[in-house]
Formats: sequence, C-alpha cells, structure tokens
Amino acid sequence: MKVTKKFEPYSFGAMIENIDLSADLTADQISQIRSVWIDNQVVFFPNQKLTNEQFARFARYFGDYGEDPYLRAMPEHNHIVEVKRSKEEKTSPFGGTWHSDWSFLNKPPAMTLLYSKIIPPVGGDTLFASTKDACTELSSALREQVKNLSGIHSAMLPYADNGFYATESEERSMDIVTSKEARATQRHPVIKKHNESNFETLFVNPVYTVGIDNKDDIEAGTILSSLYEHILQDRFIYRHKWDEDTLLMWDNRSVMHMAEGGYDGYDRLLHRITIAG
Ligand code: SIN
Repeated sequence: MKVTKKFEPYSFGAMIENIDLSADLTADQISQIRSVWIDNQVVFFPNQKLTNEQFARFARYFGDYGEDPYLRAMPEHNHIVEVKRSKEEKTSPFGGTWHSDWSFLNKPPAMTLLYSKIIPPVGGDTLFASTKDACTELSSALREQVKNLSGIHSAMLPYADNGFYATESEERSMDIVTSKEARATQRHPVIKKHNESNFETLFVNPVYTVGIDNKDDIEAGTILSSLYEHILQDRFIYRHKWDEDTLLMWDNRSVMHMAEGGYDGYDRLLHRITIAG
C-alpha cells in the first residue's frame, strides 16, 4: 500500500495506491487506511474496479451504514445512492453548495464514500474545505465569540415540502424525497470535538446551519458569514478532479464539501454510501 499525502498547493488529502479494494482486506490494512483517513480527512484510491457488493463491503470495514434521509437508494442495493446528472439535465448539481452531510441529524455520518462510475471530460470536480484546519487557525476574537455557541441545523432549505428540491421546476434524475419532517431542527456546538481524535472543528455549513441558538437571525447571519469567509479561504480547500473508477472517502466531521457543475451536455454518475457517526 503506497500513501501519497498532501498535494501542493493543498494542505490536506491523500492518495492510496497499490491496494485492490475488491479483495478482502486484513485488519492491519483497514486500521492503516483508517488512520490515513483521520489524519488527511480526504483519501482516494484510483483505478479500482468494484461491484456494488465490493464497494459496500469496503465501506462497512469502517462502521455501520449511516441513515440517509431524503435520498432513495438504488433498486439494486439498499444502501448505495446514485449521485447522477444526465446530459439532458439543466438542474444545479446535487450538493452544489458547501455542506457536511446530514449535519441536521443527532448523529451525522462520520464518513461518506463516493465511487466514480461516469465522469464528464470537463467540470464536475468536488471541493473540500477543512473545517479542522480552519478551526486551528481561527482568530482569537472569532473563537471568543463562538466558543460557547450552538448552531441550529435543519434539512428545511433543500428538503422541506416547500424547500429547494420540492419547488424546482427542472426535471432532476436523482431520486430525492422531500417532506414536512425536514423542518425539524437539531443543535450542535459550533466548535465541536472530533469524536475519534482530540482535535476541534468548526461544525457549521451554509446548507443546513439555519441559525445560532439564542441569537436573532441578523446576529446569527453575521457570525455564520464570518465563519464561512474564514473557512472558505483557498488554503483550507482541496479540489478533487475525478477519473472514473476512483473510490474517495472523507471525514464528514472535519470537512465541508460541494459539487461543482460545468459539465452540461455530459452524464455524471457516482455511487455514494455513508457510514454512521
Ligand atoms: C455530494 O454528496 O454532496 C455530491 C458530491 C459530488 O457529486 O461531487
């Protein structure tokens, strides 16, 4: 197993080669991958030919399946979701705004895995922002301001019955379920301790953090904008350019991510699994 860490100009991310993920892995290999993943936050394995079962078996080495509300799994596998956009589609890319997956849950997923099946020749990158590095480099004034605050998270903006996906007019090929229950809210500390390592991370994101506990909308908006401006600096961002047959896994507790467009006229398809936190 060969690990290449941190690609200039990025400050995090790692690539692992010389391992065949379609085979059974040993406990030692799994624990090595787990520690590279925790340290580097985003890890990818190029040139992997995986069936649905092999992809799912690899994901399960790292925990139980996560809860995946609002997305229907593919008919062939209960826990794999197809992240897809067809060449005819005019919709915004799914996941096209910075977020961490399902942060509105009581226990958001620890890990998300994507396996690339069809990749367009242009566009369609996935961007990751390290909320861990951003937390380490938070100014003392901003840290003082947010250190005891809790963010209010909800799926309402995208997934409520009056939310973005329920009201968009363009046809979308992804199987998205919207509902009234998406209006529920959940609180998480703004500065959150990673539950496997001891580091701190900024656990807020523009899609699901809809407010701050005990702050009015204007004050919450000002605080959140300052945090996003800080997190979304180039030095905290890793841009992943996809090839087909790549498996990529990220630590959903220490990065935000977003899918970029720019591939109208081409198909894009990735398979996605989440692992419980
Ligand atoms: C997502 O899970 O947010 C989608 C990521 C992507 O399609 O690149």
